[in-house]
Order: sequence, then C-alpha cells, then structure tokens
Amino acid sequence: MCPYHGLRFDGAGRCVHNPHPGGQLPDAQLRVYPLVERHALLWIWMGDPAKADPALIPDFSWLSDPKWEAVRGSTVAEGHYELYSDNILDLSHANFVHPALVAGAFTEGERKFWQDGENVFAEYIRLDDYLSVGISAVMGTEGSKQDFYGLVQWHAPAVLYFDFRAGNPGTPREQCTLLPSLHAFTPETLDTTHYFWATARDYKLGDAEFTAAMRGALEFAFEQEDMPIIRDSHRLMRGEDFWSLRPLILGGDGGGVRARRMLKRLIDREQQTEQEDADGNARQV
Ligand SMILES: [Fe+2]
Repeated sequence: MCPYHGLRFDGAGRCVHNPHPGGQLPDAQLRVYPLVERHALLWIWMGDPAKADPALIPDFSWLSDPKWEAVRGSTVAEGHYELYSDNILDLSHANFVHPALVAGAFTEGERKFWQDGENVFAEYIRLDDYLSVGISAVMGTEGSKQDFYGLVQWHAPAVLYFDFRAGNPGTPREQCTLLPSLHAFTPETLDTTHYFWATARDYKLGDAEFTAAMRGALEFAFEQEDMPIIRDSHRLMRGEDFWSLRPLILGGDGGGVRARRMLKRLIDREQQTEQEDADGNARQV
C-alpha cells in the first residue's frame, strides 16, 4: 500500500484498490522484486528476477524460533554499508569504542580470519579470562573467568552472523552459552545504510525487565557508539574510493579486507554476466 495516498497493489504490481472517490483502478504498473519472508526478516532481491534463489538466504532460524528470545532494532545509519561490515568483522574496536565491552579477547586473544566459498569468517578465542562488564551482566558471569569463543560469518553483500559463546573454563565450545546476533546492512544511498540488528538468548525467557536492559545496552552500543564513529570515518573519506586512500590495515582487519575483496569479485562477476547476457540478447535480435 502506498503510505502517501493509500493505493494498494498486488504482488504483480497491478493496482487493486483505490480508496479515493470513484475508486477507479488506475492502469499503473509498478516494478516488482522477488521477496521472501524468512526468519522474521524480509529478503528482497533487486537484481535479475530470474536469478533470485531463496536457497542463498543464510540460516537465521533462531530469530523466529520460540526457544530464543531476541531483542532487535533497525535504524538508518550514515555511512557506506561496507564500513558497517568492517566494524562487525573487526572486534578489536570494542576496546576503544565501547567502554562497557572492553575485553582482552578482542585485542590479546587468539584471532583468525579466513574465507570459505563466498563467506568470510573472523574468529576470536580467549580462554580463562574475564568477559567485558556488559557481557558479564547479560550472561550472569560477573567476577568469574570464562572461556570465550566469538565467530563472525559474513555473507555477501552485508549480512553478518555473530556467534558469541562463553562458558566456565574447560566447557566444550558447543556447550557454552550462546548469544547469537544478526547485523544486516542494506545500502540506502552511497552515504546511508539501513542497519538491522538482533541478539537472542535462550535463558530468562519472558523476563521483560532483563529484555529491556539488554535492548538498552545493545541500542546504546550500536546507535550511540558505533554509528557516530563510522559516520565520521565515512565523512572523512569524502566519497573517495576506499583503496585509493591507501588505508592503514591493522591486524584486526583480516576479515574486513577479505569481505571487501570478495564483494568486489562478486560484483565484477555479476556485471560481466549481465554484459554477456545483454550481448547475447543483442545477437539474437
Ligand atoms: Fe561496535
């Protein structure tokens, strides 16, 4: 439905309802895009409709699974969407941007970055150390050392899953308490990004006060701490190409750099295929 004057359209883009006097249906045809509702999210495909493949949607089933209680939010953020992916893949920033999330895990822990197929991974492991103040409060582990396992998985173009686990020292990784998170970025313009985030837990279900505290802490971290610093980085770049600025690459950027290279390869490949399709069509004509 058009939010401005209330005309309604069906899934094929035809006008099916006109609430204005007379009610005649205008002969309007909207452009339509393949859209799938899955895991409590809407996944839109804005490329060649013939190439839309719902099997490519990553598994975020915890978002719609009643075993998990998720806090979630969305906002429009200033800055190019790739800067937002960089931010999630590089957790070392937590120690400088998020006073409540400072932890040895992010700068002194073991970290690894790799690629598997078209996915990029960033892993942070720190055994037998204190978690940050903020995370200890969410996990109820204040004052006790924990084993920490953090794994970020990037999916093109900018959908990230953060698998955050902690448990008493020696707990097998798969038995640690899991806090799964989604960070998904949809470009709005070259300078603005729709930021969708969610974090879930499988304990204290139905505890509204706990949920509100968790939401407040996450909203504050993403919207009051990450967003301003990414916005300012973006403004300083003044629309220039990222690599032409010869960025200083730090050890924590192994994930972000891989994701940027992968995305470029995928975009180049798509444009090449589109060009070949266009040439093929031209020959047939
Ligand atoms: Fe952050």
